[in-house]
Amino acid sequence: MNKNAKIVVGVVGASGYVGGELLRYLSGHPEVEIAAMTGSSQQGQAVESLFPNLKGIVEGPLTEADYDALGRSCDLVFSSLPHGISQEPVAQLLKAGARVIDMGADFRLRDAAVYEKWYGLPHQQRDLLAEAVYGMPELHSEQIKTARLVANPGCYPTASLLALLPLKGKLTGTVIVDAKSGVSGAGRSANVGNLFTEVSENFRAYGVGTHRHTPEIEQVIEHKVVFTPHLVPMTRGILATVYASSSIEDLLPHYRNFYADHPFVKVLEDLPCTKAVAGTNFCHLTVRSSSEPGLSVIISAIDNLGKGAAGTAVHNLNLMFGLDPLTGLDRAAVYP
Ligand SMILES: NC(=O)c1ccc[n+]([C@@H]2O[C@H](COP(=O)([O-])OP(=O)(O)OC[C@H]3O[C@@H](n4cnc5c(N)ncnc54)[C@H](OP(=O)(O)O)[C@@H]3O)[C@@H](O)[C@H]2O)c1
Repeated sequence: MNKNAKIVVGVVGASGYVGGELLRYLSGHPEVEIAAMTGSSQQGQAVESLFPNLKGIVEGPLTEADYDALGRSCDLVFSSLPHGISQEPVAQLLKAGARVIDMGADFRLRDAAVYEKWYGLPHQQRDLLAEAVYGMPELHSEQIKTARLVANPGCYPTASLLALLPLKGKLTGTVIVDAKSGVSGAGRSANVGNLFTEVSENFRAYGVGTHRHTPEIEQVIEHKVVFTPHLVPMTRGILATVYASSSIEDLLPHYRNFYADHPFVKVLEDLPCTKAVAGTNFCHLTVRSSSEPGLSVIISAIDNLGKGAAGTAVHNLNLMFGLDPLTGLDRAAVYP
């Protein structure tokens, strides 16, 4: 690639919440040119009418996804399609020569049988599972640099794993992840359960014992986890409260040390909150001991669309193209 040329990117599924957030981040990235934005049912719609925040920033109609042409014309394509739908497009994009960051779950689990059990779908691109790199920069930055296919982590797994990674290999007993998400985590498609009237002034658990992010968390942390997600009446953000026992003492210095070279994870003295990371790629976390010896309470906050999706994807782009990890991502949240 010419040293002065921009990285040519495409966003597939640009009408969704993750696609829209990718466009917002990418439009502020100095080394990127957005060459294609595709939609499915929203094809032909102006992106600035779907995302009024992009008016005058990113404009133009969503086009049909021709994966062969996209793969030939782009250096990197972000696929922000629902799980199950991404497998064939990702294979075509790679075959045509692009590198791919898949935002969904299709390439996150190494074992196709585990995918098929939890997602209830056959995996059509099993060969690519061995090649895909789980795109958590705090864990796999070296592999991400050279990857053709990056499986961007899920939003709950990001919040949960960043809380747990410093304890990996030292965990004992049951790990409990009690996580709460804003409604944008469910995507933009119409769903009665996500109506204002259902969500507002309401707070509920869902997917108890069955949520598909459970095997993703367990695969990385290599420990059984009881994971319970909740829906809270806010637009974005995840707060995960994690209860874990380990053999490590003095946890706060241990966490500080562990994340010292990871610019997007801030270990705080204070308790984290979702508002302080909204619209950013930062994770705020802290750790406290409990009255139970050895049992710690770790609390992490991310933006599900930021660190939980588009922010990490841009961080991965930076690694894949040899850029400073902070490029296009060094911004504070809007507060309050
Ligand atoms: N929301 C989050 O916080 C979050 C976080 C991390 C990862 N993710 C993952 O990121 C992906 C996108 O999530 P999202 O929240 O952006 O979902 P979304 O708002 O529902 O958007 C889905 C996108 O996929 C397109 N699409 C739907 N069905 C399609 C089909 N059959 N063929 C081609 N395109 C199709 C839609 O196009 P049209 O609108 O034009 O029909 C839309 O652009 C999912 O895999 C999700 O699990 C989401």
